[in-house]
This record gives sequence, C-alpha cells and structure tokens, in this order.
Amino acid sequence: MLCHRSTFLGRSIASQYTRWTLTARAMSTNKFDLPSRYQGSTKSVWVEYIQLALQYKPLNLGQGFPDYHAPKYALDALAAAANSPDPLANQYTRGFGHPRLVQALSRMYSGLVGRTINPLSEVLVTVGAYEALYATIQGHVDQGDEVIIIEPFFDCYEPMVKAAGGVSRFIPLVPMVTGRTISSEDWKLDPLELAKLFNEKTKMIIINTPHNPLGKVMSRQELQMVADLCKKWDVLCVADEVYEHMVYEPYEHVRICTLPDMWERTITIGSAGKTFSLTGWKIGWAYGPENLMRNLQMVHQNCVYTCATPIQEAIAVGFEKELNQLSSPECYFNSISKELITKRDYMARFLEDIGMHPTIPQGGYFMIADWSKLAGQVDLSGETDPRRDYRFTKWMTKNVGLQGIPPSAFYTEEHKSLGEDFVRYCFFKRDDTLEQASNILTEWKNKTKSK
Ligand SMILES: Cc1ncc(COP(=O)(O)O)c(C=O)c1O
Repeated sequence: MLCHRSTFLGRSIASQYTRWTLTARAMSTNKFDLPSRYQGSTKSVWVEYIQLALQYKPLNLGQGFPDYHAPKYALDALAAAANSPDPLANQYTRGFGHPRLVQALSRMYSGLVGRTINPLSEVLVTVGAYEALYATIQGHVDQGDEVIIIEPFFDCYEPMVKAAGGVSRFIPLVPMVTGRTISSEDWKLDPLELAKLFNEKTKMIIINTPHNPLGKVMSRQELQMVADLCKKWDVLCVADEVYEHMVYEPYEHVRICTLPDMWERTITIGSAGKTFSLTGWKIGWAYGPENLMRNLQMVHQNCVYTCATPIQEAIAVGFEKELNQLSSPECYFNSISKELITKRDYMARFLEDIGMHPTIPQGGYFMIADWSKLAGQVDLSGETDPRRDYRFTKWMTKNVGLQGIPPSAFYTEEHKSLGEDFVRYCFFKRDDTLEQASNILTEWKNKTKSK
C-alpha cells in the first residue's frame, strides 16, 4: 500500500514535473507563436483605427464606405431573395459562384473586355475582393517567387505574398510636384526602376487602378509599360480594379487585360461592395483565362468553398438591372462618378483652405493631403507612435474630432517615411457630413490662428 502510495506520489510528481517541463519548453520554443508565414504582421491599421473611432467618436472620414444608403433595388433584391418561396434560396449554392451571378458577371465583363468570358470556368465569386486577392496570391505564388508591388499599396498585399512563401519587391509612385495641390496623375512610376525589378524569379505584379489611396488611374501608356515587362519576363499581372466605375472625366479606366496578348496573363479583381456601395455584403470576384483561374478555384474550394447565396442572388439582380441601362446616365455605374466628383471637389477646396495640399484623385473615393505645412500648429509630443502620420491622425482624432487614415500603413517597413507627410480621407459621405468636416477644420484653423 505504502509502496503503492509512494509509487502513485512518485508518478504524480513525475507527471507534474513533465507538465512543468513541457510548459517551460512550450514557453521557450514559443509553441503557440504566430506561424512564421504570418510573423512580422502587426495589427492592421483598420483594427486600430476602428477602436480609436469607437473610443473618441470623431467624425470618421477614415474608412472607405458611404454613410448613406446603397441603391434601393439592391436592398429590395436581398429581401426578396431571402424571402423567396424557393426552399433552396437560402441553402448552399454552386461553390465557384452562384449560377445567376456568374452569368451576370460574364455578360458584364464580356462586354467590357470585348471577348466572351465563360461564366463557369473564367469567373470565381469570392468573399469580397479581399478573398479574390488571397486566392490569386495563394494559388499562384510559390516558395521564393517574387511579386512586384507598387507603393503605396492596399495593405493586405504584402502579408498575403509572405504567407504564400513569396518575396515582395517594391517600387513607389512618386509625386513629381510637391508643395501645392496636385493631381494623382502627377504620381509616377520610374520606368527604369520598374524594369530593374523584373527577373527570372518574378512570378507576379499587382497593379491597382483606380488606386487606393492616391486615386491614380493608370494611363494606357503606363499600363502598356507594365504589359510589355510582363510579356518579356513571362509574368502574371493581377489587376485590382475594385474602383473601376469611379473614374472622373476626362480620365478613363483601361483594363490591362484588354491590351494585346494580356488576357492570357491577367487576373482581374472586382468588388460588389465597391460597385454597388455595399461594402458590408463582402462579395467580390476574379476573372481571367481558365488555366489561371483553376488555381484560384483550388484555394477557394479549400478555404471558403461557397459564398452567401441570397447576397449573390441580389447582386445578380443588381447587375441585370444595370446591364439593361449601361449607356444611360441613370445607370448606377455612370451616375456614381457624377455624384462623387462634386464631393471630391468640395473636399479638395476645404483641405486647401485649411492649408493642406491635396492630391486630386482621378478615380476612387479617397483623397490624400499633405499636412506637413500644418506641423507647427500641432503638438504631437503626447503621441508615441514612431510614424509622424500616425501621430498626426491620432492627435486629430482626439483633439479636433476628425479621423483620417495614416498613409504610411500603405508602405512597406523600409519605405514608410514616404507616406508620413500625408493623411487619407474618404469623400464618399453625405454632403452634410462633408460640410461638418469642413466646419471642424475651419474652426480648428481659426482657433490656432487666434492663439
Ligand atoms: C484596392 C482595394 N482592393 C481590395 C479591397 C477589398 O475589397 P472588398 O471589400 O470587396 O473585400 C479594397 C477595399 O477597400 C481596396 O481598397
């Protein structure tokens, strides 16, 4: 008995010891650390700035969405889809895209790119453009492959490339003029620097036009330069075109997949959230040639499998309606730019008035502005972030009541300083919201003047 007891005690001490050593080992080897493919990723700017907005309740011009209703027919279509008498209307649908939606997307883009797009093999519906980017990058980038990313860039590109085992190579767009109001057209790529980035290891280049955050719409010549390099080095082009319908006259959106011999090497990405101003619906898509799309289907099938049925149905209804009036000014894809250009110009004026130098966007619904001339009027010493634009935007949120996004979030670590003189605001807001923003800034300006 005694012997038993001591054996039991011994075993129990031994097992306790084993637990301790395992815990110690786990702690020293960090068994539950983030896998290396995600290491270096920090909390995204969105997570941090949404929290900041909740805490300080500023007027929020940070995130990219309208603060008013999307087209009513889309909302009605969703209600009708959910309430459909068809018992399958709310069940799983086809994994690579709801049949009615892929048909509508095929009709839409076949017209826009001037070739017949097969709805079943050349279109994939995803959870937002975000998942389309993920499926494209995971599906095509292998260990050690190089991916060219143009800075500033939508912030998930770099971590997605890293998670796929790829290596990002960066090239910045640089403003040719500073110290005054300029156009996003003035932000240029250096053709020689771009050419130097291409080599045998280059698998992919990601372009974003119209661009977030600059609003740059790449010209046909700029796209041709990218296309020529892609063809020379046998590189896949990923065209993130989520703001394709928000382009301001006299500029036009050119799809790189329509340039000679580019369909074969391009995957184009779109977003229902941006197209119909319904960012919370999180439906996106990718389209391209079947052989390239197969890789995306594999990733999608093994991570998301299928997207929400009634939402896809409602978006299909939206496309069908717009497809019947594409050439009319009533068409949402035409009217949205007319609606936004007035807001753009209003914002540019009030930013200029306060002494910031905006970059007037050719497309999209963001505006960046150079705030460096105002640096003398703000005491950022209470903010601890290493980046000036983070300190400025946080200070403005807390002390002035207006929130913008720090553009250095759109640069890789080594180049973050390129974004620090700027702040990004979204102008897709109600007119009274924009007026309030203008009043907040004017009041602040008057207060600092009188000090
Ligand atoms: C350039 C760009 N690409 C992709 C996305 C993601 O779009 P979605 O909301 O459809 O996932 C966004 C969203 O802001 C974006 O600005």
